[in-house]
Amino acid sequence: MGNKKLGRGVAVVGAGMSKFGSFPGFTSRDIFVDAYKDLLTTVDKGIDPKDIEAFYLGNYSSDLFEGQAHLAPIIANWIGLSPIPAVRLEGACASSSVAFREGMIAIASGLYDIVLVGGIEKMTDLPISAVTDTLATAADIPYEVNAGFTFPGFYASMATAYMHAYGATPETFMKVGIKNHKHGSLNPKAQFGQKISEIMEIKRASAINKGKPAPTWETELDFLSDNKSNPLIAWPMRLYDCSPVSDGGAALLLVSEELAYQFTDHPIFVIGSGAASDGPLHARSSLTSIPSAKLAADKAYEMAGVSASDVKLAEVHDCFTIAEIIATEDLGFFEEGKGGKAAEEGQTSRTGSKPINTSGGLKSKGHPVGASGAGQVVEVWKQLRGQAGDRQLSGNPDLGLTHNVGGTGQTCIVNIFERR
Ligand code: COA
Repeated sequence: MGNKKLGRGVAVVGAGMSKFGSFPGFTSRDIFVDAYKDLLTTVDKGIDPKDIEAFYLGNYSSDLFEGQAHLAPIIANWIGLSPIPAVRLEGACASSSVAFREGMIAIASGLYDIVLVGGIEKMTDLPISAVTDTLATAADIPYEVNAGFTFPGFYASMATAYMHAYGATPETFMKVGIKNHKHGSLNPKAQFGQKISEIMEIKRASAINKGKPAPTWETELDFLSDNKSNPLIAWPMRLYDCSPVSDGGAALLLVSEELAYQFTDHPIFVIGSGAASDGPLHARSSLTSIPSAKLAADKAYEMAGVSASDVKLAEVHDCFTIAEIIATEDLGFFEEGKGGKAAEEGQTSRTGSKPINTSGGLKSKGHPVGASGAGQVVEVWKQLRGQAGDRQLSGNPDLGLTHNVGGTGQTCIVNIFERR
């Protein structure tokens, strides 16, 4: 099939996001305004919004979460961009990576020079049972959901299979959560801005204040192994193995390579992009890997002309802690079955050899599903420009990757970014 290339180069010249969290009383359009305003402050030489030619919005299900469909023109109008073309794209939890890819392709084709890509989800208005049901509509309803599966259940099955195949333990998964909360504690936009150790001390103080016996936890693993402080959601996935229910938005300004330096002296170029699809989880031969992720990664590496070892940092889809471990193997960072060990050894921490989810990941930064892919790009963009604040990686990283999964891998998109 040959090595596919973009018709012309595409750069990201602005990247912003709202805080992720729970924002009662605010709609998705309100939250997107925060992301868009943040983006505008990041375009070094400024952007006249009148120059934006099209808007690609990733959103999973504003219909069910908020009772509002047709969100792209509504948000475009709310931020003053009517009458440009505005289209909403849906790829479950990969919706804004789908939007990113379509925006990128539109520029590469020559159709547009300047495009706004966004992602938004407002999940917290519904009770948790309705959130779970809404998320489950991204799975196979007759063959999976009607048999009792929900997303925690799917990833619990993958975790169980991984434990069986490679000897991982629940502590292996806990260490991913500890690491991502530590990263998230350095990210002011994260939903959970605290390390597990800090949460543990808050819970201890609260118990004592209420006159209850002081908990005996000594370590973060003690806290995470306690059924009260870290209840089981779907064995072996506990509360702190799950990404939360979140509200949030993210926005990116994409331009053609020729125009990039009109907006900034430090553009970040998209040098590789791969996408793939698959059937539902129940029909797969293995539960310990996501085939669409491997395929998308292969295509992205091939287009970029780089390999896994060249990647300095990656934001990967850790909707559950097991998902991060599998992602680091599917992306070729570690051999199959070795990702869990690598996480335990600290190789994936900010100071490790392969920093993963420096933003805190979906686990700690939050997972407003339609915004998560665009949010990943915000982090990589900041890291590659040396603007990630307290969580900035040392060593001046020049190559970063995003990996965004829809459902259990029915959709996967991998993008590779470079600072030249
Ligand atoms: N990680 C850590 N803490 C969490 C959390 C999470 N994922 N979700 C909620 N909490 C905390 C809350 O902050 C709250 O803390 P507090 O008591 O100190 O105030 C406490 O747990 C209870 O929160 P609540 O909102 O009542 O939790 P819940 O039981 O409604 O939801 C889950 C917990 C795990 C069921 C929910 O987060 C979930 O469904 N996550 C998965 C989402 C998902 O499937 N996404 C798509 C992936 S493909």
